[in-house]
This record gives sequence, C-alpha cells and structure tokens, in this order.
Amino acid sequence: MKKTMVFAHRGASGTHPENTMEAFIAAEAMEADGIELDVQLSADGEIVVIHDRKVNRTTNKKGHVKHYTLRELKKMDASYMWKHLNRKHYIPTLVEVFDWLCTNTLICNVEFKSNKSNSLELENKVVQLVRDYQLEDRIIFSSFNHYSIVHCHQIAPEIETAPLYSENIFMPWVYAESIGAKGIHPKWGVISEQAIRATEENGISVRPYTVNRERDLQRLFSYQCTAVITDFPALAVKLRDKKY
Ligand code: G3P
Ligand code: CA
Repeated sequence: MKKTMVFAHRGASGTHPENTMEAFIAAEAMEADGIELDVQLSADGEIVVIHDRKVNRTTNKKGHVKHYTLRELKKMDASYMWKHLNRKHYIPTLVEVFDWLCTNTLICNVEFKSNKSNSLELENKVVQLVRDYQLEDRIIFSSFNHYSIVHCHQIAPEIETAPLYSENIFMPWVYAESIGAKGIHPKWGVISEQAIRATEENGISVRPYTVNRERDLQRLFSYQCTAVITDFPALAVKLRDKKY
C-alpha cells in the first residue's frame, strides 16, 4: 500500500508563523516529508518567501512586498501576531531555505505568487537558484498561474511542475500531461476519489491542499494520493503512521 507523503503548508503554519525558517524547521522536527512555501520578488529583485502580495497580514508593516527592498523586508517582524513568542521571526529568502535544505532530505514545493506584470523574472531566478544548489530532484514548482509553471517546464524540464487549481477539472491527468506536469495540486474538496485514483494510475501525482481536519486526512490517506499539503504536519504524520 502506498504511503502518502505529508507536506507542511507554509511550513508547520498551524503552530508556527507561516513561511518562516522556524515553521520549516518545525516541519522537519515533526517528520514531514516536505514543505510548501510561497515566493515573490523584493523591490531589489531578491527572492523572498511570503504568501500575500502585501506584508500587512503577516508582518508589523504595511504595503506591497514588491515595493520593499530585501533590507527593509528583513527588518519586519513576521511573527508579530504570535504574541506568546519570546523572539521575533523574519521573512526568509529562498537562499536561506535552500541552505537549510542542504542539511536534510525534505522535498520543497515552491509556489510562484506570480502575476501578469512580473515578466517571468521570478521564475527564471528560482530555476537558476535550484540549479546552483543542485536541488532539481527535490523541488516541485506549482502556481495558480499555469503560464508560470509551463515556462519553468520549458526552460527546466528536469524539475517537476504541478498546476494548482480550486475548481473541478475533467480528467485532470490529461490536462497535466498537456502542460508537461508530473503532478496536480487541487484544492482538497474539488477532487473526487475516482479522479484521484485515475490520475495516480495515469502516473500523475496528486497532492491536495490544504487538508487540516482529521477525517479529511484519513480519507485522502485511504485514497493513496502521493501527498497531502497541511498546516498540521504532526497530526497528519501521526494519523498516517497509524495506518501503515
Ligand atoms: O500550494 C497549496 C496552497 O499553498 C495554495 O494556496 O493560497 O495557501 O498559497 P495558498
Ligand atoms: Ca502556497
């Protein structure tokens, strides 16, 4: 029976400030198989790990990520909502994450938070960085912007791509194959058991997001999808390992 992998969504973001090194390191300690994170470019062209276009929700400052230099972003408190912490956590660069990835064997799902205006500079820079670190086998590129991952597949076919989507797709493996993707990352509630099994049987990995409730995790483990993406990797690992 296939053992479903557990990917920590924005790190162990159910228990730690999302997209921080502390959340990624916690995911490793919880024995997750991989992490998921979001990337954007700073005003001075550095790859930073943060989800929203604006810093408002996750830091103590306001404004668009793309309007701040790395030096300015690094001064922000990315844990200001987590009042009980005794020290601040910061926005990491992708370089910092990759340095840490070199100390372990985790898989890293890099989600491009790209929009029409950013001209694939982000994607090109991330591909180059993956190659510099020789992490090609441990990276999965995903995005809701499928042009973004198709571009990555064209320039770096050795790195796996997986489209993100939140509406039901008919025969998703056919679509995945048509864009050179080896996986799909559907919103967990929009894909049926039948579609998961058929997609996996057609050689395409299914990694639904973001699966946090015990009963949903159990259900997806029983369907034997390749991975689940969750805010609570410790819970997911515990439930999964009871099964096998
Ligand atoms: O990659 C899965 C998930 O992260 C996609 O949605 O909004 O959490 O980035 P979001
Ligand atoms: Ca994401």
